[in-house]
Amino acid sequence: MCGIIGYTGKGDAKEIMLDALELLEYRGYDSAGIALLKDGRTQMIKRAGRVKDLRNLCARINPEGQCGIGHTRWATHGGVCDENAHPHRFGSVTLIHNGIIENYRELIDKYELEGSLISETDSEVVAAVLQHFYQGDPYSAIRRTVLKLKGTFALAIMFDDQPDQIFAVRNVSPIVVAATADGAILSSDVAAIVPFTTDYFVMPELHVVCLKPDKIEMYDLSGDHAKIDWLKVDWDVSRSGKGGYPFYMEKEIMEQPQVIGETILPRVKEGMPDFSEEGIPDPVFADCKRICVIACGTAMHAGLVGKSLIQWVIGIHVDVVMASEFMYNDPVVDKDTLVIAISQSGETIDTLEALKFARKCGSPSISIVNVKGASIARASEYVIYTNAGPEIAVASTKAYTTQLAVLYLITARMALARGIWDEQKAKAFMEELLRVPGVIERVLETKEEIHRLAGCIINARDVFMIGRGLDYSILLEGSLKLKEVSYIHSEAYASGELKHGTIALITEDTPVIAMVTQEKLKSKELSNIREVQSRGARVVLLMKEGETLNEGEQWSCVYRLPVMEDPFMVMPASVVLQLIAYYVSLDKGLDVDKPRNLAKVVTVE
Ligand code: F6R
Repeated sequence: MCGIIGYTGKGDAKEIMLDALELLEYRGYDSAGIALLKDGRTQMIKRAGRVKDLRNLCARINPEGQCGIGHTRWATHGGVCDENAHPHRFGSVTLIHNGIIENYRELIDKYELEGSLISETDSEVVAAVLQHFYQGDPYSAIRRTVLKLKGTFALAIMFDDQPDQIFAVRNVSPIVVAATADGAILSSDVAAIVPFTTDYFVMPELHVVCLKPDKIEMYDLSGDHAKIDWLKVDWDVSRSGKGGYPFYMEKEIMEQPQVIGETILPRVKEGMPDFSEEGIPDPVFADCKRICVIACGTAMHAGLVGKSLIQWVIGIHVDVVMASEFMYNDPVVDKDTLVIAISQSGETIDTLEALKFARKCGSPSISIVNVKGASIARASEYVIYTNAGPEIAVASTKAYTTQLAVLYLITARMALARGIWDEQKAKAFMEELLRVPGVIERVLETKEEIHRLAGCIINARDVFMIGRGLDYSILLEGSLKLKEVSYIHSEAYASGELKHGTIALITEDTPVIAMVTQEKLKSKELSNIREVQSRGARVVLLMKEGETLNEGEQWSCVYRLPVMEDPFMVMPASVVLQLIAYYVSLDKGLDVDKPRNLAKVVTVE
């Protein structure tokens, strides 16, 4: 996790890094720090707290320099305190680190570092090992150190006697590099580079990059010059700010009609789903005997919707596996299993590792990724990008609905490739899919009504969400969203499962959000709602416009969803749940975009 930045050039490195760290804060916000190298001296300023606290500290100290490295931390090894904040320094070596060094204990013993370290971090140990090997040749010291490290790392390093130069090396954890108008920059994320340029490259693993004010050089670990593959950021840079909204989360929810449209439209040719731009041949869709979706959190919830769609239309078995559990259950994947990895960041380490394992087993793979050129995109055979643009709020919203959009497209292409649907059937499905942006627009127009609905749960300690089938899948995501941004305990339950224990928790103080959008499940759902009502629960009901569950029934809190074909109701319903979570968090006065303990990119297992 952790955000990293490095800059060398003619600019004010402190200001450049502080601005970048603010953009990177979504990666972790336990502490922040910078180090500046000037005239052979390195000055470090760091502290527990947010980047704004670091900025205040820098304003008092006013460090100067045109070459520096900076870090915003999500704590792994060692608690949240000033000492454990990055950068770390040992002798003449200063570094920042993203990742986890698994053998740091062994390294402490081997290099007799006990008693000479200031922090509790694994990162300081790396600085000490680098110093051990450093005899004036940074490349040699980095090479020799890297060979001793076990684990994941993205390191940006400065040596006191290497003026204006930043060195970087990585394994798994990402680093992107770019030239600016007056220097060179590196970061954990493209987001920090976008204000300077749209040209960048992703550092390959186990290569060493040296940034100089006028040059960027890259070598492999044998010391040979390596070729740089430049990429272009192709999202609209103007989308990077908050656009007048108080929080990114609201802005990103409001962007959904546009970005869903931008995800679907380039993949529709003459009314048909089309992945020729992605180069995915039809046999990939036609030949698989089963599908295994691997993903975490929100992305996994998108996978659950994909499972329902594919099993319904195609009739083949789909497993959705939490990537973090994948390796612990003796995964069974083979050449007949199409693996679909879903990830907004494209960097979630569990998803990446599971995908790599599946590829080793011979599985064909497609990844659905938002961030261009991310590790998961590069590790899979084919990639379909969600065109959601940068998602900055820690709670995922637009990435989720664009992932869903891609899963609808995959379902339709698969049905055509396997001869299950004729063109007419596929066209009708695509027409409904193309209605989604407009339907979501209608939901967004009612956001004040949804704000009032949020008032029904804001004071609750626990909230339950109940539904069946697709409704249950969406509620899992709605419940995660509520938990993460409002800190209200919430559980999504398959309605039929309630009676098997959980109904014991329902009291008059427990609001229950019930979702009824699937015609075939309506009557069963109604009985389940009655069961919780009879135990005193206050039910907030989400159902289609123009429908009643029962004539004459009184509902205190109802939201009417614009009508789509049943398999598409997940789209408008998800947006309502996102807005409920958002407004509860907003009205509780919480930091909506940066919920406690979380980080946007999960690069540790
Ligand atoms: C929740 C959320 C997380 C992510 C999960 C996977 O709002 O954002 O649950 O979905 O950490 O991240 P990606 O999609 O980047 O692999």
